[in-house]
Amino acid sequence: MDYLPVFLDIRGRCVLVDGGDTIAARRVERALAAGANVRAFDPAPTLELLGLSGQPGLTIHSRLPQAGDMIGCAIVYGASEDRARDERLYEWSRAANVLCNIADWTEKCDFITPSIVDRSPIVIAISTGGAAPVIARILRARIESIIPAAFGQLASFTGAFRARIAAAITSGRDRRRFWERMIDGPAGDFFLAGNTDRATAQIENDLKKSAADTLQKTGEVYLVGSGPGDPDLLTFRALRLMQRCDVVLYDRLVGDDIMALVRRDATRVYVGKLPQDHSMAQEDISDLMVRLAKDGNRVLRLKGGDPFIFGRGGEEIEKLAENGISFQIVPGITAASGCGTYAGIPLTHRDHAQSCTFVTAHGKDGALALEWNILIRPGHTLAVYMGLGNLPALVSGARDLGVDMTTPVAVIQNGTRANQVVLTAPLSKVADKVAKAGLTSPAMIIIGSVVTLRDKLNWTGNFDGGQAMALSSSTTPSVMAQHPTTRP
Ligand SMILES: C[S@@+](CC[C@H](N)C(=O)[O-])C[C@H]1O[C@@H](n2cnc3c(N)ncnc32)[C@H](O)[C@@H]1O
Repeated sequence: MDYLPVFLDIRGRCVLVDGGDTIAARRVERALAAGANVRAFDPAPTLELLGLSGQPGLTIHSRLPQAGDMIGCAIVYGASEDRARDERLYEWSRAANVLCNIADWTEKCDFITPSIVDRSPIVIAISTGGAAPVIARILRARIESIIPAAFGQLASFTGAFRARIAAAITSGRDRRRFWERMIDGPAGDFFLAGNTDRATAQIENDLKKSAADTLQKTGEVYLVGSGPGDPDLLTFRALRLMQRCDVVLYDRLVGDDIMALVRRDATRVYVGKLPQDHSMAQEDISDLMVRLAKDGNRVLRLKGGDPFIFGRGGEEIEKLAENGISFQIVPGITAASGCGTYAGIPLTHRDHAQSCTFVTAHGKDGALALEWNILIRPGHTLAVYMGLGNLPALVSGARDLGVDMTTPVAVIQNGTRANQVVLTAPLSKVADKVAKAGLTSPAMIIIGSVVTLRDKLNWTGNFDGGQAMALSSSTTPSVMAQHPTTRP
């Protein structure tokens, strides 16, 4: 390690910043945010720096710094981008025994300024030792994306219970488990979701019970929508719960690349359904979830798309409620939305459709005879789930009800995935075209004049009936290779 990482308590101490431009302004802002008194120097400060004037603790001097200005400073920043000036500043700092950092000049740095992820009071600092600041910035962006914005406030919130927890749970091991569960469990989740009252109630409740008892016996269920297939479309929350579960129950629609992101040690149970082939009855899935949760497991019920849109999420979760099992539900991008977007077909558009309906063409007992003349009409978009097998019936039903058979239709197979296929045809010809192309499930059918917009908006380059889409996550295949998922 080339540098010693430390976080300085700089409150009330003096920081000198030399420079009048953007870099200097950023240094000034950061030092002020940490509570320092800042002396900024530049003969002609820019508006950006001047814009900070008036902030408590900041003095802007419209001149060059001098050797005597270093005295009493805790640290010095050089940000003038003038080599001679920077060099002078560095020498003066050394002589005054003050640590100095010159921007973009590693040899003239006693310390480096890391990229930071600020979730105060939690601060994550990233440094490449000055070797590749861009890598630090990219890394920072990635970390930013996986840590919920309120995570720092969660630290302050839970910190307020510290003394009570210490008094209530005397065993160090049990106390640690209590903390883990509080932050990485329902209380933490409630807080991050903005529900402070429920988070408080949960902690109070857990504290009241014997902590050890609570920790060992209570499980919970996460009903999570994983979206239509592209792992990049998972929500942060979905990913977090996927990383936390002990057992995962997953469907056919959840692809291997998404399963590769589930916690490595979690037990995997395939409860998938092929159309007309229910490998595990709905009732049995619900019973299994209840049993696993009662055994103290964190159970992830992972479903394709959104669990509450043709996903039977409601049915599965009812049983949990009846059995007093605590659960969370995470929405996912539903197939109609994902498929439309990746096919370049907006579901609504002011010139084409002011409304949109999601229907399933498949009822409990097979094909549904819907009011196609109402569902397929000008100014409206129809998105049909589970409609591929019943497409000929849909077309003839529509014809019988006098629907305009020139209405454009798109059939999107494996929407959002690397092997997405899109077919378009007028309603009169679509069933034949699909049969000839041999499209298979999962497929989404979009009906309405919005389909014509695809000619302009086909951003994935996925041509009709072809498989030209190459934009799916490039990082997941290597992960998949490490953790192969077995699936019947
Ligand atoms: C049982 S439903 C589940 C829907 C899911 N809950 C959702 O919100 O997307 C399954 C149907 O969703 C559609 N579907 C799901 N994923 C799809 C995908 N990647 N491409 C095309 N259609 C998809 C198909 O119509 C499939 O038959």
